[in-house]
Amino acid sequence: MINHYINIAPYTTFGVKAVAKSFSIFSSTEELKSLIQNNKEKELMILGGGSNVLFTKDFQGLILVNKISGIEVVNEDDDHVYVKVGAGENWHNFVLHAIEKGWGGIENLSLIPGSVGASPMQNIGAYGVEIKDVFDSLTAFHRKELKEQKFSHEECQFGYRESVFKRSLKDQYVITSVTYRLTKKHKLNTSYGAIEDELERKSISQPTIKDVSDAVISIRQSKLPDPKEIGNAGSFFKNPVVKKNVLEIIQKEYPKAPFYPIDEDHVKVPAGWLIDKAGWKGKRFGDYGVHVNQALVLVNYDDAKGQEIYDLSQRILDDVRNRFGINLEREVNIID
Ligand code: FAD
Ligand code: EPU
Repeated sequence: MINHYINIAPYTTFGVKAVAKSFSIFSSTEELKSLIQNNKEKELMILGGGSNVLFTKDFQGLILVNKISGIEVVNEDDDHVYVKVGAGENWHNFVLHAIEKGWGGIENLSLIPGSVGASPMQNIGAYGVEIKDVFDSLTAFHRKELKEQKFSHEECQFGYRESVFKRSLKDQYVITSVTYRLTKKHKLNTSYGAIEDELERKSISQPTIKDVSDAVISIRQSKLPDPKEIGNAGSFFKNPVVKKNVLEIIQKEYPKAPFYPIDEDHVKVPAGWLIDKAGWKGKRFGDYGVHVNQALVLVNYDDAKGQEIYDLSQRILDDVRNRFGINLEREVNIID
C-alpha cells in the first residue's frame, strides 16, 4: 500500500523533518517489483535504516523502505560459512546473531546502525575491517529491467566508503540480499584503535569474537552520539587521502598530527582532527551543531532543518580548505 505526505523523520537517524509525497514499505522482491511497476512518481528512493542520509527538503517522489528479512546458511566448508541475509535485516542484529552462532569476521563492525542491504553501498568499515573483507556476493533488483541479478566481489568495485552502487550504477539497483563469507576458525583483528586497551582494561588476554564485539561496542558508545538521543548520521565527511607534502606542511604547526599511511606518496588524515583543530568541535547553533566528542559528526539536537545542517557542512568544508588546503568530501548521502 502506498501512503502519501508522510513525515520521514522517524525513518532516519538524523530525525530531520521531511515529507515524502509517496511512501511504502516492502518485505519481498515481488512486493518491490509490484510497487515499482505501479509507481507514478518520477523520483524513487530506497531507504534502509536511514542512518546515512540527510534530506534537505521534502521529497517529491516515492520512498520505499526495505524490510526484506531472512538469514540462511547457503554453503560451508571446514573454514568458512556462507550466510545469505535479507537486505532489510538490521546490521547490528545480524552481527550479534553471527557471534552467537560462532561465525567470525564482522565483530569489529558491531553497533554500526542501518540495514544489511546498505552495508555494501559504502563498504561500511570500522576498527580495521571493511565489508569487502567478508563479502561474497549480493543480489540486486534492476529498477528498469525489473529483474534480479547477482554481483560478485569484483563487480561491486569496493573502495574506502565506495562501491559501484554509489558511482556508475547509482540509483539503478535495489540490493535485495547480501551473502557474507564468515569464519569458523577466527583471525581476530585487535590492533586498531583502542580495542587492545579496552581488552586489557577488562583483563582479557585470549579474546573471543564476543569479547572483541563487546570492546568495540564500549568504545563506540563512549565516542559516538546515540541517534536515539541526538540525531546524527555518523561521520559526515570521509577521511581525506592527501599527498605526503600536504601532511608535512600541517606537521610544521602540529608535529603530532595523526595520520594513517596509504602508500609511498599518500596518507589519510582524520577529518575529525582537522575540523577539531579548525575550532568547530562542540559548536552549537540553535538546534544543530558539531558533536562535542567527535568533530566529524554533525548533530540535530531537536528540530533542526536539513538545509541548516547541510549549510553548516559547507561552512566546515570551506574553512578546512582555507586553513589546510584539503578538500573534504561528504560521506552522508545528501537528498535534495
Ligand atoms: P540508508 O541511510 O537508509 O541509505 C544509505 C544510502 O544507501 C542511500 O543512498 C540509500 O538510497 C541507499 N540504500 C540503502 N539501502 C539500499 C538497498 N537495499 N539498495 C539500494 N540502495 C540502498 N558507517 C560506517 O561505514 N562505519 C561506521 O563506523 C559508521 N558508524 C556510524 C555511527 C552512527 C551513530 C551512525 C548514525 C551512522 C554510522 N555509519 C557508519 C553510517 C551508516 O550506519 C552506514 O552507512 C549504514 O550502512 C547505512 O545503512 P542504512 O540502512 O541506514 O542506509
Ligand atoms: N580526532 C580528533 N578530534 C575529533 C575527532 C577525532 O582529534 O573531534 C582524532 C582522534 O583523536 C584520532 C583520529 O582523529 O586520532 C581518528 O578519530 P577516530 O578514531 O574517532 O576515527 P575517525 O577517523 O574519526 C573513522 C570512521 C568511523 C569509524 C571509526 C573507527 C570515517 C569517515 N570514519 O572515524 O566511521 O567508526 O574510524 O574505525 O572513516 C562512519 O563512517 O560514519 C563512521 C563513524
